Formats: sequence, structure tokens, C-alpha cells
Amino acid sequence: MALLHVGAVCLALWSFVLCSTGIVQCRVLWRFADRTAAASASVTNCTYPDLISATADELESGLKGGCFSSVDLVNQCRLSRSAQAYIARIQEVNSTVHAVTELNPQAVEIAEQLDQERKNGSLRGPLHGLPVLIKGNIATQDELQTTAGSYALLNAQPPSDSTIAAKLRQAGLIILGKADLSQWANFRSFNSSNGWSAYGGQVGSSSGSGVASDLGLAFAALGTETSGSIVSPSEVNNIVGIKPTVGLASRYLVVPISERQDTVGPMARTVKDAAQLLQVIAGPDPKDNYTLASPFGSNLPDYVAACKLTGLQGKRIGIPRNVIAALQEDYMGPYIAAFNAAVSVIAAAGATIIDNTNFTAFDTFNNSTVPDSVLFADFISDLATYLSELKTNPNNLHSLEDVRAFTQHFPLEDYPARDTAVWDAALAAGINNTSPQFWPLYQQNRYFGDEGGVLGALKKYNLDAVILPTDFAYPVPAVVGAPIVTVPLGAYPNGTAVQRSPPWNLVEAAPGIPFGISFMGPLWSEESLIGMAYAFEQRTLVRDKLKRYIEPHTQLKDVV
Ligand SMILES: *[C@@H]1O[C@H](CO)[C@@H](O)[C@H](O)[C@H]1NC(C)=O
Ligand SMILES: *[C@@H]1O[C@H](CO)[C@@H](O)[C@H](O)[C@H]1NC(C)=O
Ligand SMILES: *[C@@H]1O[C@H](CO)[C@@H](O)[C@H](O)[C@H]1NC(C)=O
Ligand SMILES: *[C@@H]1O[C@H](CO)[C@@H](O)[C@H](O)[C@H]1NC(C)=O
Ligand SMILES: *[C@@H]1O[C@H](CO)[C@@H](O)[C@H](O)[C@H]1NC(C)=O
Ligand SMILES: *[C@@H]1O[C@H](CO)[C@@H](O)[C@H](O)[C@H]1NC(C)=O
Ligand SMILES: *[C@@H]1O[C@H](CO)[C@@H](O)[C@H](O)[C@H]1NC(C)=O
Ligand SMILES: *[C@@H]1O[C@H](CO)[C@@H](O)[C@H](O)[C@H]1NC(C)=O
Ligand SMILES: *[C@@H]1O[C@H](CO)[C@@H](O)[C@H](O)[C@H]1NC(C)=O
Ligand SMILES: *[C@@H]1O[C@H](CO)[C@@H](O)[C@H](O)[C@H]1NC(C)=O
Repeated sequence: MALLHVGAVCLALWSFVLCSTGIVQCRVLWRFADRTAAASASVTNCTYPDLISATADELESGLKGGCFSSVDLVNQCRLSRSAQAYIARIQEVNSTVHAVTELNPQAVEIAEQLDQERKNGSLRGPLHGLPVLIKGNIATQDELQTTAGSYALLNAQPPSDSTIAAKLRQAGLIILGKADLSQWANFRSFNSSNGWSAYGGQVGSSSGSGVASDLGLAFAALGTETSGSIVSPSEVNNIVGIKPTVGLASRYLVVPISERQDTVGPMARTVKDAAQLLQVIAGPDPKDNYTLASPFGSNLPDYVAACKLTGLQGKRIGIPRNVIAALQEDYMGPYIAAFNAAVSVIAAAGATIIDNTNFTAFDTFNNSTVPDSVLFADFISDLATYLSELKTNPNNLHSLEDVRAFTQHFPLEDYPARDTAVWDAALAAGINNTSPQFWPLYQQNRYFGDEGGVLGALKKYNLDAVILPTDFAYPVPAVVGAPIVTVPLGAYPNGTAVQRSPPWNLVEAAPGIPFGISFMGPLWSEESLIGMAYAFEQRTLVRDKLKRYIEPHTQLKDVV
């Protein structure tokens, strides 16, 4: 009876609405209904974590206790009444926030396989059976697109999964779908908007991975950063972001900007969840030789064990005040005040604060064209390499010139309203990363991050980390590939004048817009940074104090 009832409700309610999207077919219902009925009969004492805040540990404990299955986490059609976990949550809010460009049609099948393995007593790892979303520039060899937000790459096929995607699967994670991004990771135009792509539209506030993770549209998400693209969307979405050292996690088959700066990292609701995901994606990969520079080889630090309340005890932490002085705008008063209050929390947690550990080359760096020149040169070379690796390249694109010509002639790319000025500048400079002019430029650029920047300050003052408001944190570590962890810090208060960025007028600051604090350290110092970030997070728990303007309502208890 229960079977028929569930099925009838599903077909009646969903066949025209959700099932006709072709995302998840309702026929899967019949395959799962009996097993779940049996499972729920034997389980009497379950709690169902609120999916807006559910941690990996809470979800794994429910899976282990048989309270719900991985299929319950993803399936939308099996269920009675209202609706169903993560896919249903995506359907609730996506028409407003546009965070998820597409769902994986195989998600339920994969979840079923993982549930079966769990039943058999075989777990692939501590995150077995949890759904994640990944940014649309991380390649997967499945039915999902890897477009970097551009029609230029629609239906392009990679030769295999990216190493990162393969690692997620090996660890038992379910790739639930792809998250929208600023097109080409925000490396096309000087007058486009953050979070916009031709393929996926405009994300509500910032890139899809950040929105998705905050709204509990998956257990967590992966982003990529060249300069700011993990930590900024994490900050404005009130979540934790880890930008790993370049080379800690493989970039093989991730649509590139720069081999010297690109890195893939977790965006999650807690430091510990982010650490768990970092543990999965880190490690050497012969297909990305920057990973071979890692001091760890296959013996990674235990990033999860690093999550200790004592993480700040005995640490020496510097504040490069001159960076704040150079970049602070009038409206940022409450942000800087919150940062200064956080400094007291950090000191009270046992750290020694050393103020004015300035980045000596910051003012020159801030006005220099060298950092862009290095990215331009890497992009020309690295994009060509990526395109040459594709198994299917439907638009026959082999170079940045090709991609620019495609973009300027394909109406949905919104050219010229959104220009291609970044590429125009790169091609006009005419330098790629094998040109003789490149090496001196790169050395100049490194100086801004090394002796004249974050690495220099760390050494000179014998520091474990430096801290900054996240808005100001990322440009300097970017040029030397150094790591950053951002943690929620607060939000602009009522009365803040709304700040918009031209030309598309996206809101930069306004009452309720969140901001974060960043911990930055030497190369490969993630273990220590995670400890500090965790100790700060647990003492402040800012995330739970802020209010969203939109939230999905589907919960596991509606589903099971
Ligand atoms: C059910 O769980 C609650 C909280 O976890 C616990 O206090 C209670 O004793 C449990 N009841 C049974 C019957 O196991
Ligand atoms: C989310 O919205 C965007 C923009 O409308 C759309 O392109 C995308 O297909 C939607 N995703 C899902 C999973 O429906
Ligand atoms: C689970 O175990 C059964 C019996 O040992 C086996 O036939 C099946 O293939 C296993 N399933 C998975 C998903 O490992
Ligand atoms: C990686 O390989 C490329 C070419 O094969 C080489 O130019 C580069 O120096 C290598 N990088 C590292 C970090 O080993
Ligand atoms: C660091 O920068 C701050 C702010 O610009 C300035 O007041 C201070 O004198 C500088 N300290 C050093 C040691 O350069
Ligand atoms: C840093 O750059 C910003 C943006 O270009 C500029 O507004 C600001 O004046 C610069 N600050 C310094 C100290 O040069
Ligand atoms: C940097 O450029 C800004 C204008 O864009 C100017 O106000 C500032 O003085 C310059 N800073 C330095 C250190 O040259
Ligand atoms: C890089 O520049 C060299 C000339 O300096 C040229 O031979 C080579 O084709 C260029 N590579 C790419 C990918 O543009
Ligand atoms: C972007 O720049 C292009 C070329 O300069 C211009 O035609 C277009 O109007 C600009 N778009 C906006 C929104 O300012
Ligand atoms: C800010 O304004 C909102 C809406 O008017 C109100 O609900 C909230 O309580 C206010 N918050 C504070 C801290 O005053």
C-alpha cells in the first residue's frame, strides 16, 4: 500500500512539473520505494538535521543510523507530499538565485550504488554518500557540461574526468551538478558583472558555489580561485572558503586562467566541513606537475584533526595595516570595526598579535600592471593547452583568438554590451608564458607577494599567519600561490548606504550583506590556518546570527 501511495502522489504531483524537466525520472521511484519502506520501519529514533546548516558529521551519522539514505538526499520523485532534499531545495530557489546550471541526471543512480555499498558495510571514506556541487569550470566526463559559463565550450567533451572530480567519486561523494560562475572565472571583460555567465545567467549575489553552499543546496561546493574567486563569494555568502596553496590540489582538466595562480578549493558552511573536503581533493597528480612540488607527497596532513579549539594558542599573528589603509573606503567603517573586534577574540584565544606587519611593496603592487600581464600571458598559453586536450571541441577552438572570435559573434554571449577587453588586452600585449619577456615579468610579480608581500611579512616578523578583512586579503597571496582561509565575521548594519558597482549595479555593500576575515600563511600551511580558523569560528559562530532574504524549506523529514 505504502508503495502505491507514494508512487501515486509522485506521479500526480510531479509528472508535469518536475519529472518533465528530464532531470530525474519518476520511474526511479519504483526501484527505491520498497527498500526505504523497510529501512524506515526498523529505525525509531532519528533526528533530521536542518539542511541549511547540516554538517558532514550530522549527515553521515543519519546515513549510518539508517535514518535516511543517499538517495533520500538527492531524489526528488520517490517521495510523498511536499518534496525532497537537495534537488528539491535547488528547484525551490534556483529560479531566483540561478546558482546551479544543471543537475546530474545520474545522481540518483550514483546515490543508489553508494547506498548499496554502505549496506554492504563498505564505505569509500568519511564523506561517503554526500552530494556536492562543483563549479562549472571543473571538467567531468558524464552528462554534465563543462562550459566555464560560455557557449564556446557547450558540448565540449574532456578526455576524462578532471583529477578533482575523479577524487570526489573515489571518496564516495555524489556530484549533484554544476554551479554557475562568473564566465571564464571572471577573465573576459572589464565591464561584465561578477557572477554572470552567458550559459548560466546572473547568480543572485556571487558565484554559484557560494550561494549553493550557503543555502544548503548540497553538503558543500567546490570553487576555484586565481585571485579572490573562492574567498570573495565565500565572504559575501557568509560561509567558509579555503583557497589552497597552488599545487596542493590538482588542476588537471579545470578550465584555466593561470597555472601559477589557479587553485581548486572547498566552500562550506563550517571550517570542519571545508577541511573534510580539502582532505579529499588534496594530493599529488602526475598530470599537474605543480602538485609534485608539495612537501607532503601522498602523506597529507590531517586537516580534519587540525580543527581544534586550541588552534590559536601560541600563534603569532600579524596585521598588515597598510593594506587596510590603502584600500579602505568610507562605507567600510563597520567592517573594519568588526575586524578590530575580532583581533581581540584572537588575542583572547591565546595568540600574540603583532600590528603593522606591513606589506612593503603594496602601494606599488596596487597600481602595477605587472600582475595582469602575468595572467594574460599564462591565459594565452594555458587556455590553448586546455583546448588541445579536449576530446570533442564542437566549435573547433584552439586559441584565445578563436575563443574571442566565437564570443564576439555568438549573440547569447552578450557582446558588445559585455566586452572582451581582458582578452583584447592580453592579445594586444602579445606575450605568452614561453615568450622571453615573460620570466622577468613573473619575477617582478613574485616580489609583490614574496619579499614585498605576505611571505616577506611572515618571515620578517616570524609569524604563523597574517589576518585581513577578506575584501583586502586575496590579491597579494594570489601572485605567489599562497593559501587563505576565510571565516564569517559579520554583516553591514542597518543604515549602511547601499554601494553598487558599475556598470551593472550589483550590490557591494548594504544592510545585511556579510563580510569575512581571512587567515593567510606560508605555502602549504593549510593545516595550521585551518586550526586558527576553526578556533576563531567556534568562538564567534557568526554564521548562525545573520539573516537571509531567501531560503529553501524542504527538509529531510519531508522526504523520509
Ligand atoms: C532518542 O534520541 C534522544 C536524543 O538523541 C535520546 O535522548 C533518547 O534517549 C533516544 N531514545 C531512544 C528510545 O533511543
Ligand atoms: C537555474 O537557473 C538558471 C538560470 O535561469 C538555468 O540556466 C538553470 O538551468 C537552472 N538550473 C536548474 C537545475 O534548473
Ligand atoms: C553488495 O554485496 C552483494 C553481495 O555480496 C554483491 O552482490 C553486490 O555487488 C554488492 N554491491 C555493491 C554495490 O557493492
Ligand atoms: C611543469 O612542466 C612544464 C612543462 O612540462 C615546465 O615548464 C614547468 O617548469 C614544470 N613546473 C614545475 C613546477 O615543475
Ligand atoms: C604600517 O602601515 C600603517 C598604516 O599605513 C602605518 O601607520 C604604519 O606606520 C606602518 N608601519 C610600518 C612599520 O611601516
Ligand atoms: C589602490 O588601488 C585602488 C584602485 O585602483 C585606488 O583607488 C587606490 O587609490 C590605490 N591605493 C594606493 C595607496 O595606491
Ligand atoms: C595609485 O593610483 C591612484 C589613482 O588610480 C593614485 O591616487 C595613487 O596615488 C597611486 N598610488 C601610488 C603609490 O602611486
Ligand atoms: C607563444 O609564443 C610563441 C612565440 O613567442 C609562439 O611560437 C607560440 O605559438 C605561442 N603559443 C601560444 C599558445 O600562443
Ligand atoms: C562595455 O564596453 C563596450 C565596449 O566599450 C560598450 O560598447 C558597452 O556599452 C559597455 N557596456 C556597459 C554595460 O557599460
Ligand atoms: C534591521 O532592519 C530590519 C528590517 O527593518 C529589522 O528586522 C532588524 O531587526 C534590524 N536590525 C537591527 C540590528 O536593528
